[in-house]
Formats: sequence, structure tokens, C-alpha cells
Amino acid sequence: MNEKITINSLRRMKETGEKIACLTSYDSSFAILQDKAMLDVLLVGDSLGMVIQGAENTLKVKMSDIIYHSKIVSDVTKRAIIISDMPFMSYSNPRKALGNASRLITEGGAHVVKIEGGKELSETIKLITQNGIPVCGHLGLTPQSIHQIGGLGVQATTEKDAKKLKEDALSLQNAGASCLVLECVPSSVASVVTKTLDIPVIGIGAGVDCDGQVLVLYDILGLTSLQPKFSKNFLVDQNSILDAIKDYVKEVKDSTFPSLSNSYK
Ligand code: KIV
Repeated sequence: MNEKITINSLRRMKETGEKIACLTSYDSSFAILQDKAMLDVLLVGDSLGMVIQGAENTLKVKMSDIIYHSKIVSDVTKRAIIISDMPFMSYSNPRKALGNASRLITEGGAHVVKIEGGKELSETIKLITQNGIPVCGHLGLTPQSIHQIGGLGVQATTEKDAKKLKEDALSLQNAGASCLVLECVPSSVASVVTKTLDIPVIGIGAGVDCDGQVLVLYDILGLTSLQPKFSKNFLVDQNSILDAIKDYVKEVKDSTFPSLSNSYK
């Protein structure tokens, strides 16, 4: 798609079967390259706490951090739609969530806000979307709950947990979410959720049947010390960062990525 990407473009891509290519983005130099490489979505993720700030998890990221990076990315991005993460505890009640979501749009220039969690967020999503702000849900592995989950492993591996994941996904859609990120779940579970939902599902470690893929930019450029199983270094076979990002977009679009070795059974 050559047009400026909107939430309607993502919906259309799900309908037509065109895969959605997304990477995290944190600064203007990379965002310019990412837009040139025709990524559909740039995610200003709270993974910036780890890859930019050097923390061991995402919990210390503040609203001011996400606003700062969102503004830098949105100021230079012409084509891709920008999703910005709501940081840990910034959406702990619906009113607070609306206030902070509104800051990401007005101060950060984001188009969509992303929040982690299931049906307990229904009221929050309703309030945010009723105020004209699109919401992206995030289920499966939700890194902001790392202390509650007890680690960063694969989620929804039992029938009971897979059923709950599907119910949560439907609740988010019913509450008004426009899209969903599904992280680290078995491919078969992600496939069912993707087929069940009308909204686009963007996977990370969730198999090739999702409507699109997202990875952390620094992982695909080999900048992080540990390459997660679900990611891949796209720079090793390319001569430039731009070509590596273009190769990622191509492999997502033609479903070469993720392969079985980047997925969970
Ligand atoms: O913060 C982030 O980078 C994310 C992706 C890993 C989905 O939420």
C-alpha cells in the first residue's frame, strides 16, 4: 500500500490478506529509514526502557519518556501509522488512562495507544475510544506484568489459558480496540485468535498466521546481546540498515518470516 497508513488501511489489509509489517521505533534517524522501507506501523514501544535506557525490564519507563520518543518519531514519519505504548501504571484506572492516552496523541503525535491486559481493561478501552483515540490491545506475554507472570516465557500453552486468551481478545475487540498485539503464544493459538477477531492481530513470537508481525528494531539489526528465538538478524545478509529493514518488510509480506524456527508449538 502506497497511501498514508491509517487504522482503516490496517483493517483493509486484514480483509485482503496483505500482511502488516511493524517494527519498534525510537528516534528520527531510524524512523526516516523505516518509513522509506515502507513499514506500515512504527511502534514506540516501552521496550525503549531496555534497548535505549539499558534497564532489565520495561517497568521504569515514564510517560515523559514515551512522549519524548513518540514526538521525535512522529515529527519525521510521513507514511506509517504510529502506535505508542502506555507505560506501566499509566492506565491503572479509566480516567487516568484517558488523560495519559490524550497526552500521547496531543504531545507525542501518536495515532494509536497500546495497553497490556485482558477483559479487566474493557471500561478503560471504552472510555478512551469514545473520546476518539484508537486503542491497540496487547495479550499473551505482557512484559509489564513480568513480576506477576514470573518470567518472559511462552503463554497460553494449556487449553484453559488458550481459552482465556481468546475470551480476553474478544472482550478487547468488543470494548472497541482497533487492533491487537499478540506476544509469545503457540502458533496454533494465535491462528485461532486471528481468525476469530475482525480486528488486525499483529504477532511477535505468535506464528505466521497472524495478520502482521512486529519485532524490536534493535533485535533485527543484531544490536541486542541475546537474540530471542522469535526474532532474526536481518542485517547479516544485507549491506545497509535500510536494506535490512526492507528485507524484513519483504519477508513479512510474503510470509517467509516468521519461519517455524521463529515460532512456538
Ligand atoms: O515495547 C515493545 O517493544 C512491544 C513489542 C515487543 C510488541 O510492546
